Amino acid sequence: MKILLIHGPNLNMLGRREPEIYGHTTLAQIDDAARARATAAGATLLAFQSNHEGALIDFIQAEGWDADGIIINPGAYTHYGLALRDALASLHSPIIEVHLSNVYKREAFRHTSLIAPIATGQIAGLGWQGYMLALEWLLTGVMRDK
Ligand code: DQA
Repeated sequence: MKILLIHGPNLNMLGRREPEIYGHTTLAQIDDAARARATAAGATLLAFQSNHEGALIDFIQAEGWDADGIIINPGAYTHYGLALRDALASLHSPIIEVHLSNVYKREAFRHTSLIAPIATGQIAGLGWQGYMLALEWLLTGVMRDK
């Protein structure tokens, strides 16, 4: 089982970036925890972060077709990244959109997601644990269905 964990722009700054909103946990800590959990379940997790939409799309095109599940926090591309959405829409595996913060109680421009309509589900506002819950759902649900 192959799972992709994809992070969009500015998420490489987690831990330093507005910690009152995004928490103190770093991206490396999130990736390490997710990789360890996936490995324990017999799955392979590939983590990727970029500040560039094209690089995210290149990764999705290269690794997405045979993935069994995708967890993505698209960062600000959530709200206007049409090309990123199109890249994800062409895949067949479940896609879970994760946001550290509860975007629905923040600025109005964060209330619209271009990704949500093509995602299987969304987790917002649960901090770094949102990634782990998404992963748990993929590991238990998708594996069970196989
Ligand atoms: C975010 C929310 C987005 O609106 C913002 O642009 C981010 C992070 C979150 O995880 O809460 O970069 O996706």
